[in-house]
Amino acid sequence: MGASLLRVAVSPLRRDIAPRDLARALPSVDAAVAEIRPEEPLHCLRPQAITAAARSFVEAFAGKTLYAVKCNPDPRVLSALWRGGVRAFDCASPAEISVVRQVLPEASIHYMHPVKARSAIRMAFAGGVRDFALDSTDELEKILAETGAPDDLGLIVRIALPKGGAALDLSGKFGVAPDEAAALVRRARCHARRLGLSFHVGSQCDDPARWRAAMDLAAWIAAEAGVKIDVLDVGGGFPSAYPGADLPVLAAFMAEIDGAFEALVERLGAMAPDDLWAEPGRALVAQGVSVVVQVQARRGNALYVSDGVYGSLSDAGALGWRYPVRLIRPSAAEKRPFTLFGPTCDSLDRMDGGFQLPDDVAEGDWIEVGQLGAYGASLRTAFNGFDRGHLIEVSDPPLLPTPGYAAA
Ligand SMILES: Cc1ncc(COP(=O)(O)O)c(C=O)c1O
Repeated sequence: MGASLLRVAVSPLRRDIAPRDLARALPSVDAAVAEIRPEEPLHCLRPQAITAAARSFVEAFAGKTLYAVKCNPDPRVLSALWRGGVRAFDCASPAEISVVRQVLPEASIHYMHPVKARSAIRMAFAGGVRDFALDSTDELEKILAETGAPDDLGLIVRIALPKGGAALDLSGKFGVAPDEAAALVRRARCHARRLGLSFHVGSQCDDPARWRAAMDLAAWIAAEAGVKIDVLDVGGGFPSAYPGADLPVLAAFMAEIDGAFEALVERLGAMAPDDLWAEPGRALVAQGVSVVVQVQARRGNALYVSDGVYGSLSDAGALGWRYPVRLIRPSAAEKRPFTLFGPTCDSLDRMDGGFQLPDDVAEGDWIEVGQLGAYGASLRTAFNGFDRGHLIEVSDPPLLPTPGYAAA
């Protein structure tokens, strides 16, 4: 008994969701709360919203859409994306490759992590993966050694970008510096059937011009390298709606990308639409999950609730991310900002986002926290044993629509 309990306590929460709950579908979050009266976090999945967002993106983007699996690897999320037309997946670990292979055997998988374990490269290659990201000659040698350098290899060189306008900067960890990229690109060319360039402008980037600047940089690197480029991957970073965000519509991002791609083709020569890739994560799935928490205590403007930064609200902690919230009962009381505390004993389990709720919120109430489909469930831990929850499907609309995406 000891061993199995310990294993459960250190496993990611997803496995703790009782199987009987997986089959349940209820018309709305309110109906679910009325029936379940959950003391533990209640994850409310909206598959139709995910399918609708995926379809909007796939139809608006001129190239091939690769979903970034890290954002939310739940099998039902993957299936909902497939129904929305997503056929390709950006994986970053053997576990992500396995889940996609199991759920969607027809999917095309691209291994887009620029630093991989040797065994991970072998596993991916044996499972049919042929496209691998890299940002150094060491990684290139590793990929060639572990795959046996076949003649159908795709090599995608990730470029580092300067810190940009995104809410979450991703510039510090991966990517070859632009002035060193041409040499790596030339070297990779000798071994690649498909040679690509990729970048990531940073997550939740609300400035479409960042894509144009990064694509212009990629074109400059390709011209410096003087070799043919087969693929341009414009990464993820497309934003989703959060309180206070004033986002351009999806079409505005696509207009910049289309314009920059045209300029790139003019400079470098013909490329087919399918040679343009994107790796959206957040924009496809954020609105697809909300989590219902219960208020366990109220102290002034602080609410002690059943999920927190070690659960699905990690970005609400240190990053101060603001999520939409809604009290699940009618209230005429005026709204005021609240701080939330999560259920663990750590004083860092605190969310200062100024969550706007009616002033009469009290112990026992339930609150729906929206937009947690991206990096919510996937970042959960079992710290302090607070790893239990329930998952249901609902079909009411998400709390916030994202501009330019079709409603479910
Ligand atoms: C390589 C890569 N591609 C795509 C994504 C997805 O980014 P987003 O969720 O901002 O669209 C990430 C996120 O970290 C990433 O590292």
